[in-house]
Amino acid sequence: MNQGKFDSLFVNTYARGGEAIVSGKGSVVTDAKGKKYLDFGTGIAVSALGHGHEAIAKALKDQAAKILHTSNLYYSQPQIDIAKKLVKLSFAEKVFLCNSGTEANEAAIKFARKKASAIDPEKFHVLSFEQGFHGRTYGALSATAQAKFHEGMGPMLEGFHYAPFNDVAKTKKILDAHKFAAVIVEPIQGESGVNEASVEFLAFLRDYTKKKKIALIFDEIQCGTGRTGKLWCYEHSGIVPDIMTLAKPIGGGLPLGVVLATADAVSAIAPGDHGTTFGGNPLACALGAALLDVVSKKTFLKEVHQKGEFLKAKLVALANGGDSITAVLGKGLLVGARFSAEPKPILEACRASGLLLVKAGNNTIRFLPPLTVSYDEIDKAIEIFSEIVAKTELK
Ligand SMILES: Cc1ncc(COP(=O)(O)O)c(C=O)c1O
Repeated sequence: MNQGKFDSLFVNTYARGGEAIVSGKGSVVTDAKGKKYLDFGTGIAVSALGHGHEAIAKALKDQAAKILHTSNLYYSQPQIDIAKKLVKLSFAEKVFLCNSGTEANEAAIKFARKKASAIDPEKFHVLSFEQGFHGRTYGALSATAQAKFHEGMGPMLEGFHYAPFNDVAKTKKILDAHKFAAVIVEPIQGESGVNEASVEFLAFLRDYTKKKKIALIFDEIQCGTGRTGKLWCYEHSGIVPDIMTLAKPIGGGLPLGVVLATADAVSAIAPGDHGTTFGGNPLACALGAALLDVVSKKTFLKEVHQKGEFLKAKLVALANGGDSITAVLGKGLLVGARFSAEPKPILEACRASGLLLVKAGNNTIRFLPPLTVSYDEIDKAIEIFSEIVAKTELK
């Protein structure tokens, strides 16, 4: 491991060791020393079509030869293409394009506050849920109800409140106590360990927010765009938000954030209210449009579901054969294995053995393979993982 070798170059925001990753093909990435890894992390749920997918490579080549940047002073064709597809494929009527997940959530919160301020200037409160994760900039960070991310960064923004996830009674009590502009929730909390919102909880949020003219925002940055076996995670519950945020895979591997909204939810927004120089960059939008063409196909999504069931069944069998895995969680290929203790040694041993996985909160290891992963690759990953789980004693 080369930990420290390059760390002196960078601000100390990440604990990363090992060699640099230099290339990838399909579900496999290669490091600077030529070592190959099965990529079941996809750069934290980004590379949905794996590495070097031909549709992405073609879109990149074609658009790079046309134009890379226009700014938002003008339309660009790739923006128009992706916006048309997103509107056609979702509940949304309006699209805002930015560069990342945290930016998408910033925009969503601003849009909701602007609309609410026209009803009542005091209607600016925002509710989010414990263990949720919405990003690192101040609006998104204020909505991230986890003390460890706030420590030393305070004060957070005014008007942000937190309720326990999946707790209707406590959520109602908080909602009743303030004038809310927005409620933001992940239908499946990714970072904190693959925790699913119950249908009953989402139905309550939908019902309450509709009655009180509060924007219901679904953060599908991690659980959207095909990851769970449906194009959008809200399709599992049938509960439709007013605003939805996307990022991670939606740019086909390039930075792209998206806010999808009903026309009504963003009716208060006028030119100048919000903006970004790079947002909806033509190259990222061209890749995103190409990705959507693949990922939105019914047969593709069905396979994501089936592969997810296959992976989960293998993990359940492993859990039943020992006592260190306490739960197997998730939908589609957003899968978590929860352990009885901190599983970092397992994660590190998997990496050394050629399998990349991602840690999450609550003693959970996430499996986030490319949606194009093969059954053989799942088998291989489980073989490595099982061997390491069997020989690692967790403290
Ligand atoms: C659910 C969710 N929301 C927001 C974000 C922030 O996205 P970004 O890192 O692109 O700012 C993440 C990133 O992990 C996420 O998982």
